[in-house]
Amino acid sequence: MSAAPAPAIRIAGLRKAFAGHCAVDGVDLDIAEGELFCLLGASGCGKSTLLRLVAGLETPDAGRVLIDGVDVTSTPPWHRPVNLMFQSYALFPHLSVARNVAFGLERAGLPRAEVRERVAAMLELVRLQGLGERRPHQLSGGQRQRVALARALARRPRVLLLDEPLAALDRKLREATQFELTRLQRTLGTTFVIVTHDQHEALSLASRVGIMDAGRLVQVDRPETVYERPVNAFVADFVGAANLLAGTVRGREGDTLVIETAGATVRVIGAMSPTPGTAVKLLLRPEQLTIGDTAPVSHNRLGGTLTAAAYGGDRWRYAVAIGDGLTLTVSEPNAVHPAHGALAPGAAVTVSWAPAVGRVLDA
Ligand SMILES: Nc1ncnc2c1ncn2[C@@H]1O[C@H](COP(=O)(O)OP(=O)(O)OP(=O)(O)O)[C@@H](O)[C@H]1O
Ligand SMILES: [Mg+2]
Repeated sequence: MSAAPAPAIRIAGLRKAFAGHCAVDGVDLDIAEGELFCLLGASGCGKSTLLRLVAGLETPDAGRVLIDGVDVTSTPPWHRPVNLMFQSYALFPHLSVARNVAFGLERAGLPRAEVRERVAAMLELVRLQGLGERRPHQLSGGQRQRVALARALARRPRVLLLDEPLAALDRKLREATQFELTRLQRTLGTTFVIVTHDQHEALSLASRVGIMDAGRLVQVDRPETVYERPVNAFVADFVGAANLLAGTVRGREGDTLVIETAGATVRVIGAMSPTPGTAVKLLLRPEQLTIGDTAPVSHNRLGGTLTAAAYGGDRWRYAVAIGDGLTLTVSEPNAVHPAHGALAPGAAVTVSWAPAVGRVLDA
């Protein structure tokens, strides 16, 4: 029997403070070889600092970093099998695309023929073959981004750390480049750690997502798990649109939890079982809600007043005031209920949802 392989990256008890402010506050995390791991969190929560600690550009106050089972905590950055693509991926404007990609290889003293060969292979990998002689300013934003990626990959790091690699791109280009990134990552099998503050990007790219808040990792799970089973209201709200209703547990009926919320009694199947009287938050995603009275009788219902309807191309988004100053957001595909576009603000509506979809979180 062979032992389990060492994780590509092991972060243990990592801590880093700047002038008394804890930027990274006790992070433990294993990332397996070949993973595409996304770090997600609000501005200033410590994402870049964590990457810089892994790359060796910051020295931790406490804790260790292991790459492939080797402790690199005191190894200088240039001796770590890691490459960091910075938040502002500065290309050298006066160098051609090919020379930009060759830069790290030349500095590492690789023979010229090998540099040429690797640059050509990298440009092909990021689909920029034929553009090697151009300067960065003669490229589109997406092409520049791919040059930066080729440069970061050229030295064949075991681990590639990418700090907001797609932030400078517009939405369409971002989505195209997301597919390109996952294709590259699968082709090379390199372990990628990508920092982003865009939850859609994290959910669509990652094998696992780590959500950071104030220097700590709050949840580390597969994208579907963080979206559908967030550990708390912060994560729920951060990884997508969330209706969070304050409620009180009234009791249990078999596998169903009975909750009083927004002046109504609602049921949640398969929820954890806090004692009656406990204050909870009920998470309902906008796409889990339906407007109209056609739902089965077993579904939960809340009455309200439509206050806004916004057409979004593929979907309608509705705001429904349900009393006590509470508003629910509902998102429905317009192909399902095209007539809903005719609903005028001010109309009395019923919002319904299946008892299986709600999530009960600690208040
Ligand atoms: N060199 C430094 N000196 C002092 N404080 C720093 C330094 N680097 C980072 N910080 C502080 O540490 C905290 C975390 O910063 P970090 O750059 O890791 O955040 P981030 O999550 O990457 O944010 P963003 O999404 O805006 O890039 C912030 O409060 C920041 O001001
Ligand atoms: Mg940052």
